[in-house]
Amino acid sequence: MVFNDNTQVAPLLKDSLKRLEYRGYDSVGLATISEGKIYIKKDKGKIDEVEERITLTDLPGNIGIAHTRWATHGGVTKLNAHPHHCCTNKLAVVHNGIISNFLDLQEEIEEMGHKFISECDTEVLPHLIEINLRKRKTKLKEAVIRALKRVHGEYAVAILHEDYPQQIIVARKDSPLVIGIGSNAVFAASDIPAFLHLTNQALILEDEEIAVLTPNRVEIYKLSDPNTIIPREPITIQWTSEMAQKGGMPHFMLKEIHEQPRAIRNTLLIDPENIIDIAKMINNTKNVFITAAGTSFHAGLAGSYIFNNLTKTNNRALISSEFIDNVGNIIDDDSVVLGVSQSGESMDTLTALKFAKKAGAKIISITNVVGSSITRLSDHIINTQAGPEIGVAATKTFVVQLIAFCMLGMQLGKIKGAIDQSEFRDLKHHLDFLPDIVQKIIINQEENIKIAADQFSKKDNFLYLGRGINTATASEGALKLKEISYIHAESYPAGESKHGPIALIEPDFPVVFVAPPDDTQERLITNIMEMKARGAKIISVVEIDDLKIQKLSDIKFIIPSKVPNIFTPVAYIVPLQMFAYFSAIKRGFDPDKPRNLAKTVTVH
Ligand code: AGP
Repeated sequence: MVFNDNTQVAPLLKDSLKRLEYRGYDSVGLATISEGKIYIKKDKGKIDEVEERITLTDLPGNIGIAHTRWATHGGVTKLNAHPHHCCTNKLAVVHNGIISNFLDLQEEIEEMGHKFISECDTEVLPHLIEINLRKRKTKLKEAVIRALKRVHGEYAVAILHEDYPQQIIVARKDSPLVIGIGSNAVFAASDIPAFLHLTNQALILEDEEIAVLTPNRVEIYKLSDPNTIIPREPITIQWTSEMAQKGGMPHFMLKEIHEQPRAIRNTLLIDPENIIDIAKMINNTKNVFITAAGTSFHAGLAGSYIFNNLTKTNNRALISSEFIDNVGNIIDDDSVVLGVSQSGESMDTLTALKFAKKAGAKIISITNVVGSSITRLSDHIINTQAGPEIGVAATKTFVVQLIAFCMLGMQLGKIKGAIDQSEFRDLKHHLDFLPDIVQKIIINQEENIKIAADQFSKKDNFLYLGRGINTATASEGALKLKEISYIHAESYPAGESKHGPIALIEPDFPVVFVAPPDDTQERLITNIMEMKARGAKIISVVEIDDLKIQKLSDIKFIIPSKVPNIFTPVAYIVPLQMFAYFSAIKRGFDPDKPRNLAKTVTVH
């Protein structure tokens, strides 16, 4: 933020960060300029703890930037916290997003004599900007544009420079950034609640645009055309602060369902070298186990099918609380255990992994929280990139766990020679399309799913069935429904339904089939017929062109295009998450805070 009077910004910046606290973070920092000198304070920890320790709010000046960091590259340390600065300490940068080519850029910048002091990908930006300023004698805006042209990945950035004491440069690509226009100041933030208490006038910065903020003026340019100012009128934000925190959505869960395309895209940017290293380790080990709890277990179960189908790797997925009792005596130093946990803190999973480590096994973790307990005992880590998940019911963290297994399975399959280069390329092509498919499902199916949720909201029991990899999808669909709508939902491998569960079926009993047109389809149709014969109402998650299954279904949740079998859980779970959400709403429950459940389960 930048003021046209002598308002001290530091306390206001801290207050704005507090308003974004719901997003989750692990460190905090501020930079201001006063009398031509830049000041930076930052540390790991929560805003109030850091304030208590080093007093952020005494920084002088009427212009400043601030940031809370959710670690992605580099651990939770003071040095990795933002703002980052260059060697001369004249400029400060805060950044949301991921710079996927930072290792290459870092090497190049170090060869020019610059010293990096953090492990954070963002640090390449201040160095690049400084290099451009010095070498090319350009203005700050041009130097920033040149730097941004070098980076791959996504960003929302804000930059301060001592020699431009009344200017903040902001820019974005695939990461949100909004500008607020106040009566005596200009603000910019990744989310509207940061400044909604100060102004309700906002300018939306579009992708690949840059803006120069001065106290009384905002100039917006395209990164590709830095000489032409783009005229843009502010819009009036009608949201309350509470609504704004949820991006205008009524609940975090719905917001997080909508964030899934982006979460997948970001996770697909994970460094392939890391995945290859892990695949090599698995390839060199005899016993492969996957362990997790709840939703993460369902991702692990799908992962087990992916490993079997794509890599011919013999492996087992086990619920964490059963891990030691079941396979404890066969874990040895020729074992690798993949622990899956969005929080990285679930006590059951932590205990299983500690046990396995002690028995000599190598530990690989797939988590969404950098620096979490599970990552600290791991030999290798896959950090999924869903961003913080607030809703107790896991949604976006589930789909990115699946993506991690797909990426790992593909690399392992290649190493083992189970898939060749052209099959790998073909799969990668389909993988890159998943965000668009998920986006279409969310947009096109909402009304249809709402109607179905209304229709079935008074039911007491549901059965969820699937075959092959989609037994995992069925299990996750049932878990979502029961945990937030409190409707009893059981899941079974469809072939097993005739061995007992079918006794439950009476006229109008709802049975959900996860029914992609794969090798299991004919057998699944037999199971659908068995249920129909007893009067069940058939709800299917089905591909748009699959008229066979659609004809047998009373309710259809449509998947808009073909998805390779091993990727189907990523797309087919989305309508079931939405069905659970709208069922909870119809029944009058708050899906963000289901009874008896906690986001992180740290008890046995
Ligand atoms: C998911 O919706 C549930 N809240 C729960 O099953 C959860 O997946 C489980 O407790 C495991 O959590 P973790 O991924 O943080 O380890």
